[in-house]
Parts: sequence; structure tokens; C-alpha cells
Amino acid sequence: MAGDEPLIKLMDVHKIYKLGEVKVHALRGVNLEVKKGEFVAIVGPSGSGKSTLLNMIGAMDRPTKGKVFIEGRDITNMSDKERAALRLHKIGFVFQQYYLIPWLPAIKSVEVPMMIAGVPPAERRKKAEALLREVGLGDRMYHRPSELSGGEQQRVAIARALANDPEILLADEPTGNLDTKTGAEIVALIRRLNEERGVTCVVVTHDLEVAAAAKRVLYLRDGRILPRAPPTMLGKEKALRPGEEGG
Ligand SMILES: Nc1ncnc2c1ncn2[C@@H]1O[C@H](COP(=O)(O)OP(=O)(O)OP(=O)(O)O)[C@@H](O)[C@H]1O
Ligand SMILES: [Mg+2]
Repeated sequence: MAGDEPLIKLMDVHKIYKLGEVKVHALRGVNLEVKKGEFVAIVGPSGSGKSTLLNMIGAMDRPTKGKVFIEGRDITNMSDKERAALRLHKIGFVFQQYYLIPWLPAIKSVEVPMMIAGVPPAERRKKAEALLREVGLGDRMYHRPSELSGGEQQRVAIARALANDPEILLADEPTGNLDTKTGAEIVALIRRLNEERGVTCVVVTHDLEVAAAAKRVLYLRDGRILPRAPPTMLGKEKALRPGEEGG
């Protein structure tokens, strides 16, 4: 990757979902650059295209039009196999619903991506233990999801997302199912991973407190990134630093 090349770059990205006769234009020409080490929040109302946008960055889905580059490589042209490898090694994904496998103890959940990546058993066990300690779950390694609180389940999901040392952490409403205090702890954890591990973070949220923890905030409305904070959001949250954001 060239010196100042953005880690993530979207050029005129459109996404049109077709459901029978009905077309939904979920993204309408998104341009975005995220540099290595950034912590970006994407805020916008329900249906504005936040999850769709994150899925484009995370190689979970392909744009109808436009290009997505990760480390300068066009991922829209990659084969499914190359995209799967990218998701396994470069990108960690965290969701509102955690998506943990119900019968797996935390340690196993964290080991799964390493198993898929071919990491030997002893090594992946050691790494999973270290990751669970890092997210504050050193004493919950053998608990299954039903034996963990929501915040603890999200910590397991974050540890799992970090299993193969991804450069990018993508989180879709990571605090959406949590109370304010637990949500703030998860945000603090993500922020620490950004600052200490240097993981580039893109977090989608409609929680302004989550957005306030980010270093840059982007506003999505009807599938477009707004050039500045919409008036409805100004004054509510000083930390949003209107004027700094924009794609
Ligand atoms: N698989 C799909 N098929 C058809 N339409 C879809 C699909 N996924 C999303 N949409 C539509 O695209 C638009 C954007 O959806 P998206 O899930 O990206 O919004 P969002 O900003 O994440 O909303 P929320 O805050 O409610 O999660 C919505 O109008 C939605 O109905
Ligand atoms: Mg969504």
C-alpha cells in the first residue's frame, strides 16, 4: 500500500436492492476515505443505508455500481474466494445481535475464525485466552452465550472479531441491545482497541454518545453522506464537531 493511500476507499457506491418489481435505492453515490488508524462513526436514521454501507466495506455484499478499495485493492472485482479470505484476515465484524453460536463456550467462539484460518490448536487456544482477557472476560472463558450478560456476549463477539488480527473493525450498532452504562463500556473498549492496537474502526450507530467517542463522524441520509451535520443534530452533542466531518 502506498504511503498515504487510504485503507478504505469508496468511489460513487450505489446499492439497489430488487425485490420482485420493487427497487430500493439504498446507497446513492457514496464517496468515502478512511485512513489507517482512524475511528469513524456513521450516524443516520433507520433505513438511511448504514448497514448496507458497512456490508460494502466488509465485503459482505457487492455494490450495484461504484468501487470499494481496501488497501488500494479493488474488492468489487475479487472472486468470492478472495473476498472470503479478506473477511477472514483483514476485517472483523461486530453486530448488534452478537451472533454467537449458542452451544459454544466463549473460548471456542473466539477460536473458530482461527480454526478456519488454519491456526494450530495450542496456538489458537492461547490466543483466544489472551483475547478474552483483553476484553475483560478472563473469568468467563467457559461460559456459553446464555450464561453471559448482553455486554459480556458483545465482548466475546469483539474478541472473536479480533481473532485473526484484522486491520479493520466494523461494528453495526454494537450497543443497540445494551443499556446505557454497558453500551458506554463497549464503546470504551472499541476506542481502546483503536488507540492501543491501532485497529481502524468504523462504527454504525444512531446513538450520539457512541458517535461522540469517534474521532470523525459521518452523517448518512437517504443513501448519501451529508457534507455536514444536519441541523437536527447540531447543538445536541457538542462532541460531534460539526464541520470536521464529510466524506
Ligand atoms: N436485502 C434487502 N433487500 C431489499 N431491501 C433492503 C435489503 N436490505 C436493506 N434494504 C432496504 O435498504 C434501505 C437501507 O437499509 P439499511 O439496512 O442499510 O438501513 P440502516 O440505516 O442500517 O437502518 P437501521 O438503522 O434500521 O438498521 C432500507 O430502505 C431497507 O428497507
Ligand atoms: Mg442497520
